[in-house]
Amino acid sequence: MKIVVVGSGAIGSLYGAFLSRLEDTEVILVGRNPHITAIQNKGLKINGILGEHVFHLKAMENASDVDEADLVIVTTKTYDTVTAALSAKHLIDTGASLLLIQNGLGTEELVAKALDTTRVLRATTCMGALRTSPGVVTATGCGLTEIGSRYPDNMELVEKLTQMMKQVGFDVRSSDNIEGVVWTKTLVNCGINPVGALTGLSNGEVYKNRALRGLIVRLVQEAVQVVKALGVELTTEDPVRYALGTAKATGNNINSMLQDLRAGKRTEIDAITGEVIRLAKEFGIETPSSEAVYALVKALELKNLEEGKGLTRVDILEVEDLVEAITR
Ligand code: PAF
Repeated sequence: MKIVVVGSGAIGSLYGAFLSRLEDTEVILVGRNPHITAIQNKGLKINGILGEHVFHLKAMENASDVDEADLVIVTTKTYDTVTAALSAKHLIDTGASLLLIQNGLGTEELVAKALDTTRVLRATTCMGALRTSPGVVTATGCGLTEIGSRYPDNMELVEKLTQMMKQVGFDVRSSDNIEGVVWTKTLVNCGINPVGALTGLSNGEVYKNRALRGLIVRLVQEAVQVVKALGVELTTEDPVRYALGTAKATGNNINSMLQDLRAGKRTEIDAITGEVIRLAKEFGIETPSSEAVYALVKALELKNLEEGKGLTRVDILEVEDLVEAITR
């Protein structure tokens, strides 16, 4: 199988590297410099909790330089998903399937529409990884990967990829309820991520604080009302306990939203809390706590953008539009 990983940051590099160990599997990493040049020159180094490894993989900056593939894995941030998938449109048009490994809601539908295909698979991951320097990825957490597809024709490929990932050591399972899987993970993100991002605290520090635990409970309960209105079946019976349990179990983690704010980047709040608020409005559900944390995270994002930490005026306008659309 020929696999192209588009958006090869830490998580994409990690999945791509281990999958390249399979017989008859070629993996090409597509990403940004200086990461890609470092991989081309010295190979991809993986260290941390999965041990020390060096992988010699093909790496390039543009998916347009790849002429054919069987699978395109997209591991970008949610707001870059459609652009990343479109960069590989020629591969999808000639038969490749797409696998999105990321946080957040709604990306499969957006990509299916933009590329006019239903060969779209989705995975959630509890693997943790950081790009510690160009060409070097540090694995920081090792958790479950769940794969599925809302388009039933893809289930054979879902099972095949599940077996492939198992063979190279990932803790992985397939699901025929990927919507439930994605929502269950999103409820955890709705609870933990904005609270950690706004306080600057690790998941464990958030968990230890009674008032912050109370806020997590409210955020998860608000999102659960949306899940109920949609009729989605979660993969846990007690989402509040599950979110709090995850905060405790991942105590040393600095959650991804806090990492993004610290790096001066845009966060994924629109595909997490923002999407919950948007859907809640459609059903006439009140989400006061979610709206409050959403506005606060957006304010910090805007401050980062305005201070010129790597983003442009276009991003600022887009962020302002989203805040207006969602909190109107
Ligand atoms: O986004 C994250 O950081 C993770 O999904 C989680 C589970 C909240 C752990 O930090």
